[in-house]
Amino acid sequence: MPMIDPSQTIARIVLDHPAAARVFQNYRIDFCCHGDVPLPEACARAGVDPQSVSDALDHALSNPSAESNRDLRSVSTPALIGYIIDRHHGYLRDALPGLRAMTAKIALVHGDHNPKLKELGEAVTTLADSLEPHLLREEQMLFPSLMARDLDAQFVRDELERMATDHKEVGDLLFRIRALAEDFSVPEWGCGTYRACFRELEAMEGDILRHVHLENHLLMPRFMGAA
Ligand SMILES: [Fe+2]
Ligand SMILES: [Fe+2]
Repeated sequence: MPMIDPSQTIARIVLDHPAAARVFQNYRIDFCCHGDVPLPEACARAGVDPQSVSDALDHALSNPSAESNRDLRSVSTPALIGYIIDRHHGYLRDALPGLRAMTAKIALVHGDHNPKLKELGEAVTTLADSLEPHLLREEQMLFPSLMARDLDAQFVRDELERMATDHKEVGDLLFRIRALAEDFSVPEWGCGTYRACFRELEAMEGDILRHVHLENHLLMPRFMGAA
């Protein structure tokens, strides 16, 4: 019996089966900002074979890692927000300065050999410039308003809208970064920094996809009615 119902949206599939996130990332299927489509349509949009995605999903769901198996659907809103801040905001605050430096370095050293590295460096800078205030705004404005005793519906609505708009921009930048990095493939002549940089960029992509997915598809729907 298949574990996945292909008529469900891909956002729903990742909610039900967090281990599916890694598969969708590998197939360049955006489940965070364009997660509202069923699997066959998402495969068609990404130009990938639905059968091989389905096989990869079966495999991943049969062998989930401890992290990808964590089901956050039943946790309280404060616990979910705490998890997002500790796990995902914490990760980005650690990773972004190093990624800025590494992408700048490989652009400088190898930019003549691969001109896309200069654009990659600029795209990573734009992403970091956009994410850093986004994290702060969520922590200082949106999240406290969601946990307030008296919910200010208009304020929550405005902040959620702003969050979703920021997420779209982040999703577009991730797409651009993956394209400029040619799916994070390192050429033979790539040095150790090149390798480390691309490995970390791919890890960052996966972390942001899960992060935005939790905010868009688990946190936000809890307040759609109230706000
Ligand atoms: Fe966030
Ligand atoms: Fe966010």
